[in-house]
Amino acid sequence: MKKGLPARFFITLAVAALSAACSQLKQTKPILPVSDYEKMIVGRLDADYVGTDNCVAKCHAHDKITDDFRHSVHGEQIKPGTGLPLVNCESCHGPGSLAIMDIPDDPQLNDARKTKCDTKTFLDILNLPAQAQSLICLKCHSAASMPTLAHWNASTHALNDVSCFDCHKLHQGPQQKVKHEEMAELCYGCHPQVRIENSLFSHHPLIEKKMACVDCHDVHGSTQQKLLKGDTPKETCTRCHMEKQGPFVFEHGDVTENCANCHSPHGSTTNHLLNAPMPFLCLQCHPGHMAGSTGSNKQLFSNRCTDCHSQIHGSDIPSTGITGLGTMRQ
Ligand code: HEC
Ligand code: HEC
Ligand code: HEC
Ligand code: HEC
Ligand code: HEC
Ligand code: HEC
Ligand code: HEC
Ligand code: HEC
Ligand code: HEC
Repeated sequence: MKKGLPARFFITLAVAALSAACSQLKQTKPILPVSDYEKMIVGRLDADYVGTDNCVAKCHAHDKITDDFRHSVHGEQIKPGTGLPLVNCESCHGPGSLAIMDIPDDPQLNDARKTKCDTKTFLDILNLPAQAQSLICLKCHSAASMPTLAHWNASTHALNDVSCFDCHKLHQGPQQKVKHEEMAELCYGCHPQVRIENSLFSHHPLIEKKMACVDCHDVHGSTQQKLLKGDTPKETCTRCHMEKQGPFVFEHGDVTENCANCHSPHGSTTNHLLNAPMPFLCLQCHPGHMAGSTGSNKQLFSNRCTDCHSQIHGSDIPSTGITGLGTMRQ
């Protein structure tokens, strides 16, 4: 049998068991304790939970990890009623009794023998398929913990084998969340094109760290395309640019429903994050026209369309011209 196959097999089994039990979901009885699934994945049904203190007391090598963990949001969680820790090392790594079995209780004896804990008996956390890695977190982090996680399984990230571990580096310090200052670098690692766009002449201040990718994206899942935040493409932007929200008496057709019709939010070589310079931006959808002093032959082709059509995002005030979006601002 190939290495890695048992893990996958047992996950399939666990999923099958879960869906079979779906009909019982309305009852209050739990389907199976989570620990049983973990044991299935480990393939070691004889392993048992020993608690963080026992894990760590025998293994000084993990002092920094343990210290960071105790100061993390995870380390601080206490189970209501019992006063016991809600999250401990074994919540993610699986039961640890077998790992420390051969380590003597006497610290001096242990120092002399230098017995290491047998990490092979833990969950093979880094080699699990991405979906299974995420399940380790999702057993606690449901939509109740973060509403957007309801869309995680259908998200582009989950579908492309990105797991929670790829972004949340839990042992790099007490911080479990992705820091705002470090976020862009993290994302650029897999999305190098966005770094290039963010460096163009006109851009949202992402490289300046005054904004973060999560101001516009919900990386855990979304009902919109491209993991965008908010319920509509327009809402993604008007949460900050409220004056563009409308509704206006004179709308620009329905083109402002998606600001990306004219703007490149990551960056552009044109002023104001525009997709194309004027007049080409407008000429994608409109024929140009001549303008100039009436009666004269010196009619000019009007290049700077917004010099006259200044209320391009919509307006409540009728234009002084015959038609259109603030024509002839005066
Ligand atoms: C919330 C889940 C979670 C908890 C709780 C957790 N870990 Fe981890 N641990 C991980 C993940 C995920 C990895 C692999 C990826 C990584 O290194 O970030 C890992 C990797 C490790 C590693 C190997 C990699 C390294 O950085 O050296 C050790 C050792 C370790 N954990 C020890 C512990 C100890 C000790 C505790 C308890 C004090 C603990 N972990 C609690 C999720 C967790
Ligand atoms: C045994 C349950 C449990 C497991 C397993 C678990 N968490 Fe948590 N986690 C919690 C609780 C409880 C909180 C605190 C309340 C909250 O923010 O939802 C928390 C908080 C967090 C936070 C917020 C930290 C902050 O600073 O606000 C992040 C990020 C997080 N967990 C990520 C993960 C990741 C990634 C995994 C999988 C490797 C994971 N958790 C596994 C229970 C768990
Ligand atoms: C593509 C990267 C990425 C992936 C994958 C990812 N996260 Fe996150 N996560 C983030 C970022 C970035 C933040 C910070 C959001 C913020 O500050 O508003 C975050 C925040 C969180 C928080 C804290 C939310 C809060 O506001 O307190 C939790 C909990 C969390 N993630 C859990 C998970 C779980 C569980 C998974 C896997 C199912 C996961 N994340 C996968 C990037 C990611
Ligand atoms: C001001 C809002 C905004 C910010 C901030 C933002 N994005 Fe986007 N992003 C968008 C919009 C809108 C789209 C969809 C563009 C489209 O449909 O043409 C998008 C699309 C994407 C895509 C899909 C590929 C593509 O170009 O269509 C990726 C990947 C992406 N963003 C990553 C990032 C990363 C990484 C960051 C942070 C460095 C970031 N975004 C910051 C608004 C934003
Ligand atoms: C481990 C690699 C990895 C990291 C880190 C990562 N992504 Fe992605 N992301 C992907 C992959 C793979 C896809 C799907 C293929 C693609 O569109 O490039 C994707 C797709 C996306 C999309 C497009 C969704 C769509 O429907 O087309 C957005 C937006 C996005 N990521 C934003 C982010 C943001 C924001 C961050 C940082 C918080 C981030 N990603 C971090 C790998 C990653
Ligand atoms: C979190 C708030 C926020 C969100 C969401 C947001 N923006 Fe912005 N936007 C800003 C800030 C801040 C600036 C000013 C940048 C500066 O002064 O350097 C800006 C500037 C702009 C500019 C003007 C650039 C210039 O040079 O005049 C345009 C156009 C723009 N945003 C379009 C968008 C679009 C389109 C979206 C949605 C995809 C969006 N914004 C979403 C905060 C936001
Ligand atoms: C039909 C094309 C078009 C659409 C659609 C559009 N814009 Fe603009 N936007 C422009 C043009 C053109 C300018 C530059 C105005 C100028 O040159 O006077 C601009 C400028 C801006 C500016 C900076 C100057 C200012 O007026 O504050 C922001 C912010 C902005 N747009 C946000 C948005 C948002 C948010 C949306 C979606 C609700 C949107 N735009 C949709 C064409 C458009
Ligand atoms: C010198 C001022 C001026 C400039 C510059 C200008 N326009 Fe106009 N535009 C007008 C006036 C005045 C009207 C209304 C009178 C009319 O219908 O001829 C108008 C009308 C329009 C209409 C509505 C036509 C209709 O039949 O409803 C469109 C579309 C339009 N312009 C697009 C553009 C585009 C695209 C550009 C840039 C290439 C542009 N305009 C530049 C003054 C201008
Ligand atoms: C994505 C396509 C698109 C782009 C780009 C676009 N428009 Fe429009 N525009 C429309 C549609 C659709 C309408 C409404 C239908 C109509 O009246 O033709 C409209 C209407 C107008 C009107 C007439 C409004 C009225 O009340 O009759 C003017 C003026 C106008 N646009 C100017 C511009 C200018 C100037 C630009 C460039 C900054 C521009 N448009 C860019 C699609 C676009």
